[in-house]
Amino acid sequence: MNFLTNEKLTIVGAAGMIGSNMAQCAAMMKLSSNICLYDPFAKGLEGVAEELYHCGFDGVNISWTTDVKEALTDASYIISSGGAPRKEGMTREDLLKGNAQIAADFGRNVKKYAPNCKHIVVIFNPADITGLIVLLESGLKPNQVTTLAALDSTRLQSELAKHFGIAQYKVQGCVTLGGHGEKMIPCASKATVDGTPLLKLLGTDKLTKEQFEEIKQKTIQGGSNIIALRGRSSFQSPSFVSVEMIAAAMGGEPFKLPAGCYVNTNGYDHILMAMNSTIDKTGVHYQLSDLTAEEKAGLDASYKHLEELRDQVIEMGIIAPVKDWKTINPNL
Ligand code: 2OP
Repeated sequence: MNFLTNEKLTIVGAAGMIGSNMAQCAAMMKLSSNICLYDPFAKGLEGVAEELYHCGFDGVNISWTTDVKEALTDASYIISSGGAPRKEGMTREDLLKGNAQIAADFGRNVKKYAPNCKHIVVIFNPADITGLIVLLESGLKPNQVTTLAALDSTRLQSELAKHFGIAQYKVQGCVTLGGHGEKMIPCASKATVDGTPLLKLLGTDKLTKEQFEEIKQKTIQGGSNIIALRGRSSFQSPSFVSVEMIAAAMGGEPFKLPAGCYVNTNGYDHILMAMNSTIDKTGVHYQLSDLTAEEKAGLDASYKHLEELRDQVIEMGIIAPVKDWKTINPNL
């Protein structure tokens, strides 16, 4: 059996819809021969494990536990969807208080039980803030923690493909930057439609400015549209994409869609947000590439919004003020 690694992959929140689908994807995509499922909800977790056993995956040892110490000890890779999901009528930001506390507890447990962990992908919302808290509290390095933001880029790709009536894969270079929330920035500047730069089409009768504004709104509301259609938060797409992200960190195909990552340059300070980035075996690396003036202004606004959310969590007393972060995590 060819697995990317034999090192332990722990899936946190494995009894939930995203977690159980992540486990299924990870086994199908042959990520690790050693997958550990963790969730405090024992009955549901056992159900997920039973289903996976009934799949009869070859060569994989799938274990499950409700004990966080057992789950995290010796974990080299972790994906966490272990927070509350969004319900109809909620924004991702509405989850801030409860999920920020869960993120802080999770990060502290990583520091205690999995200090040698190589990479964590955080999925639960608001992911930019929960990921930032996990990075702070775990003591890991900035290139070792990423969050799921790429769904915004695949949603932009899908909306453009629907507009132009072409197969989704023929739209390339879709990039959505900033927060994975109401203030994300869907960017036109790198996209191509069947080989033609989107900027050449934008403002013509093929794609009017009004039509592109609508596409951007549909991209931003892509997650709430799934809730409206299915009566629950998305789970297939976050599972698959987050497993692709951790696979890249294990040394698989590099992951090139924007990931949420720690940003501390160019006037952005102690924040985590989606950037033009690559995840590979050495972790995540971002660059602030040439954005249009409008995109840069949008990114600045998205950053300000995330700064406010971060500061709310500090005011709630869940994490320490930024000036003390170096004592909690010297890597920041
Ligand atoms: C979404 O955008 C769950 O955050 C995820 O659907």
